[in-house]
Amino acid sequence: MCGIVGYIGHRDAFPIVIKGLERLEYRGYDSAGIALFDGNDISLSKTKGKVEDLRSKAKEISQAGSLGIGHTRWATHGVPNDVNSHPHYSNSGDLVIIHNGIIENYESIKQALKDRGYTFQSDTDTEVLVNLIEEVQKTEDVKLGKAVQIALNQVVGAYAIAVFDKKKPDEIVVAKLGSPLAIGVGENEFFIASDASPFIEFTNNAVYLEDEEMAIIRLGKEIKLRKIKNDAIAYPNILELQMNLEEIEKGGYDHFMLKEIYEQPRAIMDTYRGRLLADQGIIRMAGIDQNIEKFVNANRIIIVACGTSWHAGLVAEYIFEDLARIPVEVEYASEFRYRNPVITDKDVLIAISQSGETADTLAAIKLAKEKGAFVFGVCNVVGSSIARESDAGAYTHAGPEIGVASTKAFTTQITVLTLIALKLAKEKGEFSQSKFHEYLSELETIPAKVEKSLLSNDLVETVAEVYKDSTNCLYLGRGYNFPVALEGALKLKEISYIHAEGYPAAEMKHGPIALIDEQMPVFVIATKKGHYEKVVSNIQEIKSRKGKIIAIVTEGDEQVKELADHVIEIPETLESLTPLLTTIPLQLLSYHIAVMRNCNVDQPRNLAKSVTVE
Ligand code: M6R
Repeated sequence: MCGIVGYIGHRDAFPIVIKGLERLEYRGYDSAGIALFDGNDISLSKTKGKVEDLRSKAKEISQAGSLGIGHTRWATHGVPNDVNSHPHYSNSGDLVIIHNGIIENYESIKQALKDRGYTFQSDTDTEVLVNLIEEVQKTEDVKLGKAVQIALNQVVGAYAIAVFDKKKPDEIVVAKLGSPLAIGVGENEFFIASDASPFIEFTNNAVYLEDEEMAIIRLGKEIKLRKIKNDAIAYPNILELQMNLEEIEKGGYDHFMLKEIYEQPRAIMDTYRGRLLADQGIIRMAGIDQNIEKFVNANRIIIVACGTSWHAGLVAEYIFEDLARIPVEVEYASEFRYRNPVITDKDVLIAISQSGETADTLAAIKLAKEKGAFVFGVCNVVGSSIARESDAGAYTHAGPEIGVASTKAFTTQITVLTLIALKLAKEKGEFSQSKFHEYLSELETIPAKVEKSLLSNDLVETVAEVYKDSTNCLYLGRGYNFPVALEGALKLKEISYIHAEGYPAAEMKHGPIALIDEQMPVFVIATKKGHYEKVVSNIQEIKSRKGKIIAIVTEGDEQVKELADHVIEIPETLESLTPLLTTIPLQLLSYHIAVMRNCNVDQPRNLAKSVTVE
């Protein structure tokens, strides 16, 4: 949550920092700020609102300076207002800081600083940190880097920070624990950002800080990395990034979410490319191949994730148990990490995360590792914390997902998890070669079938028009499509602010059926493969209570057409692969309803893309 950007070099910092903040706005967007330093004076502007508000407000300050830092905020301590926005000055006015994370023990530090005469403008933990650094500088008579290190050893919490000192015009100090921080390395210039998107057009070379590392970035010098705890020297590992600019722009679509929905055929193909070799009858995945014994001999697989990734985990539970016959438990990472779970070294833990930065999922991994479990990460963001913390893993190759509502991350996660389940099914002898081949060939057809499912867009838009003013919606599915019902409801809630609930269709009669009347739209996933007759009975039950039925059906279905108010067809596929198709019209539906309700589709209220606080 919160995005940080910084620049030091030979160009004007202002346009780089502002553009970078726009790219990181998905991480938080309740306020924004920038500080520029021209070697003599610091000019600082900050405001409640979005980066475009900051752009206007910053016209009031000097935009000169080739050192700059900026911040886009998702409030934790203190309401979103101008004063609580970052950057924050120290009391002397010499130090300026931006921070993504939470300093948990800030109250006691604040009190101690107050006792020594410090005053505070904001309610933030960050202003406390910058003054603690200043106090260390004064009392210990040390330079900025050392002061940052000493101060950070006194704080409890999570942070990615960038701080500069007016007395050192050629230097920015950065540090990381729990929140991401990348340094872009150019020709005598450096970029700092929460992810690489702000600097990708300037350099492909990046250093990702590890937890508990800090760096002193000085113009004309190599980056100096140190461990915060013991001052040990660390050596920067400069990675060459594959990301390109096109991937992080809207490419003619009105919203990132729509672009990302339409990217799914390509994203799914990229996810299985080089792994799914149907003609040779094999699946090749290095992370699994090298650890196959751990999976095959596992007592059980525990899947941890949050939000949409948790829904992908639920689909995976069906796939792993059904195809590979391995027991699976799916847990909310936030619950798992605090409930003293029984974990042994015979367990395999799969962590699923688009961003690879979700704090609860990261903590769940650490707990499982401590207890001896083998940890496998399924992440989208290359080099992310979860990817690095895992013992092995597989990337989803969805490309950057910028819309806060997850779409292509979900389908590519299911693709990776399906590949793993199929591989294990084969390895364990649960599948004959011909059955294995049938699955591989069918998986290869999915991108084209997703493409076909996307053709329902116009029809979905007309359905959206009918139900856009609903106050409640129900989503029902069974088996593999129960998690899709949950995901459909989450998509609608988060971007259109309509209350929606997903249920296993058969559970309806245990309570939710009481909600059904002529005002209640019920979205039912009723594909031919997957408890079809039973779901048809559920549809009858809704109909007899006058609920409005919108059914996702297999193409050519006649029976449900007779009962439902609207039907949206998807191509036929194997039951276990249906979630990859049934989810498409539900994503489109949420998108259109949100647009019709004038909601901010890509940046829904109160949310952030990357949840790096618990
Ligand atoms: O980056 P992660 O996959 O770990 O994120 C998990 C959730 O925060 C995320 O899926 C969230 O629920 C999305 N907004 C859903 O669209």
